[in-house]
Amino acid sequence: MLQTISFVLDGKIETIDFSKNYNPTTTVLNYLRSMPTHKGVKEGCAEGDCGACTIVVGELTHDDKIRYKAIDSCLLFLPMIHGKQLITVENLSRTKGVADILHPVQKAMVDCNGSQCGYCTPGIIMSMFSLYKNENNPTKETIEDALTGNLCRCTGYKPIIEATTKSCINNGVDQFTDDEKNMVELLLQIKKASKSIEIQSGKQTYFQPKTKAEALQLRSEKPNSIIINGATDVALRVTKRHELLEEIIDLSNIDELKKCVKTEYHIKFGSGMTLENVKSIAKEELPALYETLAVFGSKQIRSLATFGGNIGSGSPIGDTLPTLMAYNAEVKLQSIDGERRINMNNYILAYRKTERQQNEIITKIIIPKPSPKTIVKFYKVSKRKDLDISTVSGGFSITLNNNIVEAITLAYGGMAAVTKRAEKAEKHLVGKTWDRIFVEQAMETIADDFTPISDARSGAEFRAIVAQNLLLKFWSETTKMEI
Ligand SMILES: Cc1cc2nc3c(=O)[nH]c(=O)nc-3n(C[C@H](O)[C@H](O)[C@H](O)COP(=O)(O)OP(=O)(O)OC[C@H]3O[C@@H](n4cnc5c(N)ncnc54)[C@H](O)[C@@H]3O)c2cc1C
Ligand code: FES
Ligand code: FES
Repeated sequence: MLQTISFVLDGKIETIDFSKNYNPTTTVLNYLRSMPTHKGVKEGCAEGDCGACTIVVGELTHDDKIRYKAIDSCLLFLPMIHGKQLITVENLSRTKGVADILHPVQKAMVDCNGSQCGYCTPGIIMSMFSLYKNENNPTKETIEDALTGNLCRCTGYKPIIEATTKSCINNGVDQFTDDEKNMVELLLQIKKASKSIEIQSGKQTYFQPKTKAEALQLRSEKPNSIIINGATDVALRVTKRHELLEEIIDLSNIDELKKCVKTEYHIKFGSGMTLENVKSIAKEELPALYETLAVFGSKQIRSLATFGGNIGSGSPIGDTLPTLMAYNAEVKLQSIDGERRINMNNYILAYRKTERQQNEIITKIIIPKPSPKTIVKFYKVSKRKDLDISTVSGGFSITLNNNIVEAITLAYGGMAAVTKRAEKAEKHLVGKTWDRIFVEQAMETIADDFTPISDARSGAEFRAIVAQNLLLKFWSETTKMEI
């Protein structure tokens, strides 16, 4: 077991010994800001909403290249960057002789007047830099998606989008390309010496196992530990509620949980896959899941948050849950005693209470490929389109045979303490023709299926109306489809 973590910063390997400095839930944001040389990174909200803390992390791929991802450093615990390259805005310009040469994205921001007060600017530059490394000539939609997680309140986005369009044209070539060989060697050096990590620091113990078997063993010995993967939910307990998390099992370094396997009838996602990765796989074969993730948080959040974490939180407004019910997906749970598969429709038991036992972890999400006769859709109603949580969401599926409803699932988020199906409405529709008259009758029964709450996002009455109208929208979008 390693007691320390190592990563690359400023071109050299940094090692953190937690017996001397910091603790395992120190965020990367606070670590960086504790140094005189990396104060460009800013704290705005400390909860993943503003992007002022955006950094870029370089990760080794399986074929020993580097993949660059923009993420919110306010949600990232220090041990989570073990084995990675940490890049901040200070690392982007380079010196030639006595001159400082700006990175193409920085230069474009200056040329397009993309900054005023500048508080948001380092975070925006880092999102632009990540896009620069990953996309050539990105579309406006891709640029907007990359910037969704960065709030700017004085400049406005027009010049920032213009700067991004102008700069992302070099196939990602820059000084990081020239240095990639050296960087890969440094990262491989850390990888070769890498083992599972156990950090003891004051009252905290932090485990980062490298294999699933170790994780299951740890979980059976420490059933009250807190599991984290992306930590986009759990980190808020530290940054907002200032809780001391005493015992943590971090699954983020287990490669086995990050694999996706496609079979003839199923797509099996590892629970540790990031939602950004799931989104790219879903695009072709699971369009409703793709639509779900297209309006999920921001790119910085999706690059950190995992599929297992969204199900693990069991939240009634967790966006993937209604979609997974509509796909009739299963969750694979594993402990040292064995494994079992639970259908998503039976997984949630009560408010944030699930079928998962204390000693189990979620290892896979298994989605059957829908038959050509089945249509699946996702709808999210929120106060704004991007980076907002659902007021009401719906994951719906329908199987039609000669316009007769053979099977239908209407799963709603935000309408009860749990993600829940509109069972009366479903029962009313099965066996009927898929006609507006029956749909309107089913809409009436939705009021009996739910007693929605009123909260800061909306009143109960609004929620009830939205739930009914989503069913009508589903009908209007599917009724004329050739299937
Ligand atoms: C700014 C912001 C925007 C967000 N937007 C959305 C949104 O649009 N829609 C939405 O649904 N959510 C949203 N979230 C919530 C959060 O990002 C998601 O729930 C995310 O999927 C959690 O994944 P994670 O890997 O970060 O989970 P973590 O924080 O690591 O864990 C979440 C929970 O799941 C448990 N857990 C994690 N992995 C496992 C596992 N393998 N087995 C068992 N238990 C496990 C943990 O113990 C914890 O209880 C947002 C959060 C933030 C901060
Ligand atoms: S400080 Fe706002 S997203 Fe991190
Ligand atoms: S320049 Fe002031 S918030 Fe963006």
